[in-house]
Amino acid sequence: MTHAATQQLRAIPLGKTIGAQIDGIDLAAPLDDQAVAFLKDAWERHLVLRFRGQSHLSLQGHIAFSRHFGALDKRPIASKAMHASAQELPEEIAVISNVKIDEQPIGGLGDGESVWHADMTYNPAPPRAALLHAHEVPASGGDTQFLNLYAAYESLPEELQQTIAALECVHDASLNSAGELRLGFARVTDPRLTVGARHPLVRIHPLTGRKSLYLGRRRNAYVPGLSLADSEELLDTLWAHATQDAYTWRQQWQAGDLVAWDNRVTLHRRDAFDPQARRLMYRTQVSDRAQ
Ligand code: OGA
Ligand code: MN
Repeated sequence: MTHAATQQLRAIPLGKTIGAQIDGIDLAAPLDDQAVAFLKDAWERHLVLRFRGQSHLSLQGHIAFSRHFGALDKRPIASKAMHASAQELPEEIAVISNVKIDEQPIGGLGDGESVWHADMTYNPAPPRAALLHAHEVPASGGDTQFLNLYAAYESLPEELQQTIAALECVHDASLNSAGELRLGFARVTDPRLTVGARHPLVRIHPLTGRKSLYLGRRRNAYVPGLSLADSEELLDTLWAHATQDAYTWRQQWQAGDLVAWDNRVTLHRRDAFDPQARRLMYRTQVSDRAQ
C-alpha cells in the first residue's frame, strides 16, 4: 500500500523567504515516486521542510526516508569523548543532545547557543542536506533558526557581488558550531593559518542554477589572497548582511518534528535552553559526493 498520495500532500510556507510545512505524509510509510517528486520540488523551492507528528519514526525509518535525497554520510567527528551508547547507533546517525549518562554526553552541541553555520563545510564535499528529528524537546528555548543564502546573495549590492565573484574562503575545521574544539585539532590564533576546506564565496546550485552566498561559519574564516584586515572586513560585511531577520525563519520544536534542510543554500543556528531540561535529536546527513 502506498500512503501519501500526491493530492493529499500540501506544502504550507512558514517563513517569508524560507521554510514550509509538509502536511499529509507519514514518513514511516513507503513513499511512491509522485510523493518523492513532490517533496523534492517543495524542498527546492522552500529550502527547509518541516514534518510534524512523526514521533513514531524509528532510526531505521529516519535513515530510509533520508535516502530519498541521496546516499548518507557518516556522522561527523565529535568534539569530546561520548558515552558508549553513541557508538552503538548506526554510523549514519549523529546524536544532538545535552543528555548525559554517567556524566558523559550521549551527543553533541550540549545546551548552549550554536552560532550560524552550515554543517561540515570544513570538508571538501559537505553534505547537501541534513534531516533532524526531535525525540525530546525542552518546554521552551532551543529554537533553531534557518536563513536563505540565495536571498542573501541576490540582495547584495551589485558591486559587492562582483567583488566576491572569484573569491574563495577557508572554512575552519577546528571548532564546532557550539565553539568547542574538535578532537585532534589545535586552536586557531591566526585565521590565515586556518585548517579546513576552501570553497568559493558564491556557489551555483546544481539543481536550480541560482547563485547563493556560501559562508559556512564565521569563526576563523579567511579569504585567501586578501590581507587579514581586508578579509575580516569583507567577511563581517557579508555576515552582517546575510543574517538579517528578513532572510530567516525560526523553528520552534515539538517532539516528533522532523526538519530537513538544504545545507548548500542555508545556514542555521540554535538558541540555548535550560540545562536541566532534556533535548534529544537524531540527525542524518545526505552526501554530496559523486556516488
Ligand atoms: C545540527 C544543528 C541545531 C539544533 O544538527 O546540525 O546545528 O537545533 N542542530 O540542535
Ligand atoms: Mn548544524
